[in-house]
Amino acid sequence: MKLKIAIQKAGRLNEDSLKILKDCGISIDNGKDQLKASARNFPLEVFYLRNGDIPQYLRDGVVDVAIIGSNVLVEKGVDLKIAEKLGFSKCRVSLAVPKAAKYESISDLQGKRIATSYPHTVETYLKEKGVEAELHIINGSVEIAPNIGLADAICDIVSSGSTLFKNNLKEVEKILSSEAVLAVSPCIGEGQKEILSKLQFRIRSVIAGQQ
Ligand code: PRP
Ligand code: MG
Repeated sequence: MKLKIAIQKAGRLNEDSLKILKDCGISIDNGKDQLKASARNFPLEVFYLRNGDIPQYLRDGVVDVAIIGSNVLVEKGVDLKIAEKLGFSKCRVSLAVPKAAKYESISDLQGKRIATSYPHTVETYLKEKGVEAELHIINGSVEIAPNIGLADAICDIVSSGSTLFKNNLKEVEKILSSEAVLAVSPCIGEGQKEILSKLQFRIRSVIAGQQ
């Protein structure tokens, strides 16, 4: 019996996800371009998946657990059990506008065009604030949108802030904070739960060792 874990195939979480498994003493046969790999010394099967697909795979029980940014779970609207917070890939999801734009409060975005890869997150936030805006969904390089006249504001992940800076944007509202978490499928079996607790034990020692 094995625990099926999803990690990001490519992107910012990929490297740190593999690293934490490695720090847990788990070595993975990692052929390039492989979408599935087994651990040599732990009952773990690793699935390399696209970030945005992971919440659904968890919900459907295709995988038992996943290392994923909590912002993605919020965006996909799936309420899953978080077994561990992993302390890496810390970022926030924020609204930003051109540096030169006048911005006093969220109501300045009323009727404006907002480019984002996080439509559900923005929509929920705006609704809460009673603001209506036009959302343009883009999958990447969102910060370019105001400069090419596609939008008046953007909502995206901010980590160091350098992408905002380079694109002459200023962060005006922080919608949520995020970090990598170990999320659990509601369909996880009893045997897998036992493997998961062994994995959690190792993860906790790794995190404690970092402090
Ligand atoms: C992510 C995110 C922001 C940027 C934030 O983009 O979408 O643009 O990182 O990081 P920073 O605050 O440290 O600059 P990424 O580079 O992953 O590319 P993408 O938007 O094309 O997916
Ligand atoms: Mg980006």
